[in-house]
Amino acid sequence: MEAMESMNRVGDGNGTRDGEGGLRVELSEVPETLLWNLYMRAAEARRARTVLDDPKAVELVDRVDYPFEETFGTPSPLLAQGHALRVRTFDTAVRAFLDEHPDGTVVTLAEGLETQFWRVDNGRARWLCVELPETAEVRRALLPDEERRRTLARSALDLSWRDEVDPARGVLITAQGLLMYLRPTEVKDLIAGCAERFRGGALVFDAVPRWFSARTMRGEMRTAQGYQAPPMPWGMDAGELPKVRTAHPAITDVREVPPPRGRGFYYGALAPLMRWLPAVRNLRPTMTAMARFS
Ligand SMILES: C[S@@+](CC[C@H](N)C(=O)[O-])C[C@H]1O[C@@H](n2cnc3c(N)ncnc32)[C@H](O)[C@@H]1O
Repeated sequence: MEAMESMNRVGDGNGTRDGEGGLRVELSEVPETLLWNLYMRAAEARRARTVLDDPKAVELVDRVDYPFEETFGTPSPLLAQGHALRVRTFDTAVRAFLDEHPDGTVVTLAEGLETQFWRVDNGRARWLCVELPETAEVRRALLPDEERRRTLARSALDLSWRDEVDPARGVLITAQGLLMYLRPTEVKDLIAGCAERFRGGALVFDAVPRWFSARTMRGEMRTAQGYQAPPMPWGMDAGELPKVRTAHPAITDVREVPPPRGRGFYYGALAPLMRWLPAVRNLRPTMTAMARFS
C-alpha cells in the first residue's frame, strides 16, 4: 500500500498526492498560506451577491484534498470579502496593463493557486508564474502549463527568472501575498531587481502594516482551530509608501491602488473612507500599491 502511494506521488511528494478525495496537497509554512487564500476566494465566489466571480477557485477547492475547514475554520464572510476585494484590486491593475499591452507579459511572483488567468486573460498575453519548487509542483499538477502560461519552479529571490521574460511587448509584475513573508533587505533587492531590468514596466504588490507584521512575529495570528499564520517580517505602513522609491532610481512613481467598494457598511462605506483618514490609514490590515519603472 505504501509503495502504491509513493508511486502516485507527484515530484518530491511534499506537494500533491492522488487520493480518493481528489489531489492531496501537502504544504507547510508560507506555501500553505496559499490554501487560505484559495479557500477565501472560493468562499466569496460561492455567495449569491458575490464581489468576485471565480468559478475556477471553487473548482479547485472541490478538487483538492486538504482539511480546509479543520485548519482554517468556517470562512468569515468579512475576511472572505476583504480578501476578494484585494484580489479584485490586482485584477484591475492587470486588466489596465492588458488594455495597453495586449501582447505583453504578466509575471506573477508567488502565484500559489491564484486563478487570475481565468478571470482576466485576454487570449493573447503571456503569463509566467515564479514559484517555490514545492508550490510549483502543486500548481502544475492542478493547473498544467499551456502555451501562453507557464510556471517556473524558482524562488522569486533568485533574480535569474528575469532572463525568462521577453520585455519587448511590455511587462507587469505582480507580487500578491509575497513581500510580507520576506526580510526587508530581500524586499528591497527584489523591487530594485525588477526596476533595474524592466524599465517601462511596473510592479503591483501588497503590504501589511507594521502592527500586523509585529503580531505575526509574536505568533499572535492564530485561527480558533490552532492554525498559526507564518511570520511576516516585512511590514510597511501606508504613510511610508513614498520610501519605496529609494529602492532604485528607476522607480519613478509609487502609489496606492485603491480596492473597489464592496458589500455592506464596512466594505461599502467605512473601508473606502479609512484610506483618507490619517489616524486610521495605517491601521488597515493590508494595502495594495503599484511602483512604476522608467
Ligand atoms: C499567501 S500565498 C499567496 C499566493 C497567491 N499569490 C494568492 O494570492 O493566492 C504566499 C505564496 O508565496 C509563495 N512564496 C513564498 N516565498 C517565495 C519565494 N521566495 N519565491 C516565490 N514564491 C514564494 C508561496 O509558495 C505561496 O504560494
